[in-house]
Amino acid sequence: MTIDERDDAPPAIPEVTQEAIEARAFRVAVAAFVIAVAGGLSAAWGYWSDEDRVLGVGLGVALLGIGFGMVSWSKYLDLDENVVQQRERLRTTVEERDDFAEEIKLTKETVGRRKLLTVLFAGSLASLAVGFIGPIGSLGPKPQGERQRTGWGEGTRLVTSNGQPIPASSQIFDQLATVFPEGSIGVDDGQVVLLRVQPGLLTERTIERGAIEGWVAYSKICTHAGCSVGLFGIDDRKPDTLRQLVCPCHQSVFDPVDSARPIGGPAPRSLPQLALAIDDEGFLVSQSDFDRVVGPISWTEGET
Ligand code: FES
Repeated sequence: MTIDERDDAPPAIPEVTQEAIEARAFRVAVAAFVIAVAGGLSAAWGYWSDEDRVLGVGLGVALLGIGFGMVSWSKYLDLDENVVQQRERLRTTVEERDDFAEEIKLTKETVGRRKLLTVLFAGSLASLAVGFIGPIGSLGPKPQGERQRTGWGEGTRLVTSNGQPIPASSQIFDQLATVFPEGSIGVDDGQVVLLRVQPGLLTERTIERGAIEGWVAYSKICTHAGCSVGLFGIDDRKPDTLRQLVCPCHQSVFDPVDSARPIGGPAPRSLPQLALAIDDEGFLVSQSDFDRVVGPISWTEGET
């Protein structure tokens, strides 16, 4: 007696037909593309609702769904199948004609399924594109060779984040303030650190570059890697008193009384200086834009 003839023999595993495999691949492909569509739409919703997690998860689901869908679709198409057409006889029998009719019927069903898959595939790609529209749009306008320009220009008032202009007569010394060009409050590349020191402390080149009555203004964007230079300190240990602008990211130190030249840390060049003037109403204004490009531009190293 063989194992198959015994009563306790395990049941025979049913043979899986090619049709069943294709049907399953079809269902998986449809499900994957539907999930991809849902993922793409969720990502779009997440972007507009400021839900970063939903945005990230949605895009991930959309990409995975499209990937799974394409793999299942290729299984459904059975791309490895070899088809051999026999051409010995040109006359057909009744059975052959019946078979042919059956085949046409099956082909119609298959074409219908392919249309559905094509539509779902296109829909999932479209929803993925919708999901990416927001993040791509957030990259901002394309640079047009105007990197050197900021909101500063001739006669632009320096204002605080509240829009208050700075009276040149202010007697507040050695206190750092962040100011913006009037009309461009909050714009990153225009932000400036403003400081007033006793005029006699400033070096000649600092005055030549636009310091006025002890006021000096420099770009707030660190020339090392673009962090905000937001710290100011005075080291008054003998014999000298040192004023320092410090970038907290990697501890670059700049000398505010000497054109913000770097005196410590990795910053390769001084902070761009904003030339100042005083308008008819006694408020601080800029003479022009910065004296050079703001930010970490290592290829202009050598400027001081
Ligand atoms: S970004 Fe300022 S020191 Fe690195």
